[in-house]
Amino acid sequence: MNKVGILFLVSAGATTSALAQEVTWRGEIGPMASAKCGACHGASAPEYNDWMLLGDDKRKTVGPRMDTYPTFMSYVV
Ligand code: HEC
Repeated sequence: MNKVGILFLVSAGATTSALAQEVTWRGEIGPMASAKCGACHGASAPEYNDWMLLGDDKRKTVGPRMDTYPTFMSYVV
């Protein structure tokens, strides 16, 4: 293999590993949120505006839904 071919392989490998390190909702955050937060903030939890209409006592028993990228990101400042 000539030097140009090796250089190409090395830079292609570097690009691949840089992409692999990018943190994404589908890659890491979503599965982690589902595993760690899904029991109380999953698909069966009320959406934020419905959750806000629950009384103070009921609101302590269930969290607002944050099982999708937009609902989760609405809590990220
Ligand atoms: C055991 C149940 C439970 C788990 C697991 C849980 N939460 Fe909660 N969460 C709640 C409850 C209940 C509330 C509402 C508390 C209140 O208002 O008194 C809440 C509130 C919140 C709020 C504030 C919402 C608001 O607008 O006031 C955020 C943000 C939040 N949780 C994020 C998370 C994240 C992120 C995770 C996972 C790392 C998580 N929670 C895991 C039960 C849980």
